[in-house]
Amino acid sequence: MHSTPGWLGWDDYAPFYDWENARTVGRRDVAFWCDLARGRGGPVLELGCGTGRILAPLARHAATLAGVDRSDPMLARARRRLRRTPRPVLLVRGDITTLPFGDGAFDLVVASYGILQSLTSERDLRATLSAVHAALRPGGLLGIDLVPDLPRWSEYSRRASLSGRRGRDSRITLIESVRQDPRRRLTIFDQEFVERRGRARRVRRFSLTFRTLSVPQMARRLERAGFHVQAVLGDYRGGPWDERANVWVILAEKLDEGLGTRD
Ligand SMILES: C[S@@+](CC[C@H](N)C(=O)[O-])C[C@H]1O[C@@H](n2cnc3c(N)ncnc32)[C@H](O)[C@@H]1O
Repeated sequence: MHSTPGWLGWDDYAPFYDWENARTVGRRDVAFWCDLARGRGGPVLELGCGTGRILAPLARHAATLAGVDRSDPMLARARRRLRRTPRPVLLVRGDITTLPFGDGAFDLVVASYGILQSLTSERDLRATLSAVHAALRPGGLLGIDLVPDLPRWSEYSRRASLSGRRGRDSRITLIESVRQDPRRRLTIFDQEFVERRGRARRVRRFSLTFRTLSVPQMARRLERAGFHVQAVLGDYRGGPWDERANVWVILAEKLDEGLGTRD
């Protein structure tokens, strides 16, 4: 049976994404990606750039910058945010399994905030790692941030997990359920956003599906795809990773051509 594709749901999520993330992940990972881009100095690509939460700050540190995302409503928000950036940023609507860029075009590919967990099949993960490998120059870096331990989240049903104001006259409540499918390593979030404005009430429902590999499992996929795992970090200050870390960052370097075909 095919898994639900991980790109589903994001169009519906787009109007609420920044509101929710301002209350959850916030900007805690932003400086890490900006420092990495500044340190490398070459062209940067962000996979699944969404509303530009990371892409917009990156624009101050990368002379050449591109973002790719499959969701038009997410990209529309990114486009608005990027109007204020110092340099033009290329935004492309597309699927990360087939990247529409020239071979060796980038020095750094950023896969932040669990984007690789939106690949819900082994085939899509393999295709994406191969597309990233082609888009990087030899010696280029793929930076991956995985949302830790989604498979260990407790399941719950219709929990009011967030509530707050948006602007002067709107109030939003998120009612969330979590389901686990351990056999396929999937975690499914069923989300219901209720927005109240005066007496008007609007409800939007959608599901997001994520597939989580452990850090060692992901490291093996990277080595098979022609990368060398350079570092595994357990925080955004460069501290080492262990099983209990609440940040899972992997930095993987593209091996020189010719070595990348090892199986
Ligand atoms: C968790 S959001 C991350 C957005 C942004 N990187 C951030 O950190 O805020 C995941 C994004 O990946 C996009 N996405 C999911 N699967 C995708 C795919 N197969 N190809 C392209 N974009 C995808 C979604 O549309 C969404 O905008």
